Amino acid sequence: YSTLALWAVLGYVLGSIPFGLVITRLMGLGDLRTIGSGNIGATNVLRTGNKFAALLTLLLDSGKGAIAVLLGRMIVGEDAAQIAGLFAFVGHCWPVWLNFRGGKGVATFLGTVLALAWPVGIAACLTWLSVALLSRISSLSALVAAASAPLWAIALGREEATVLCLLLALVIIQRHRANITRIRAGTEPKIGKK
Ligand code: G3P
Repeated sequence: YSTLALWAVLGYVLGSIPFGLVITRLMGLGDLRTIGSGNIGATNVLRTGNKFAALLTLLLDSGKGAIAVLLGRMIVGEDAAQIAGLFAFVGHCWPVWLNFRGGKGVATFLGTVLALAWPVGIAACLTWLSVALLSRISSLSALVAAASAPLWAIALGREEATVLCLLLALVIIQRHRANITRIRAGTEPKIGKK
């Protein structure tokens, strides 16, 4: 168990790096907390108008989840991979550096699941893309992708990912409460709009 605890800490530290904040600050794009939804994720970085910064945030926020899983798997095995991925996600949502006020977890969730069970990750990404193409709403795409992930895990015969997907989906839904209210009111902005 001490090894798994170590992977929880490693995953957490990796996951807690708020790439959206770091990138927008380094590129002089202003304070993300005062832009759009105030969230630190790629969707909100896009609201600064800088597509490259948003893409970089998406890649790095998902990459940190994937790296945590792959390192855990390479050095120890599947248990460490699961723990590292779970805690990378926890680190993104509740980073100690930001008084535990982190992001909504979508990119980190996608990266973690891609590394953990790639068919489930691909299915979740395609779900996100399909809903995004139809609705142009990032949060709605994230909600459908997250909620469907445990079902994809079962449907694709990758049951080892089901529990983690379910757990992450519950957190993601919980963290999108304000978005859900706006979606229902018809006031949730489309991708790229403030
Ligand atoms: O990844 C978060 C996204 O689903 C919603 O972001 O900034 O529109 O609340 P935001």
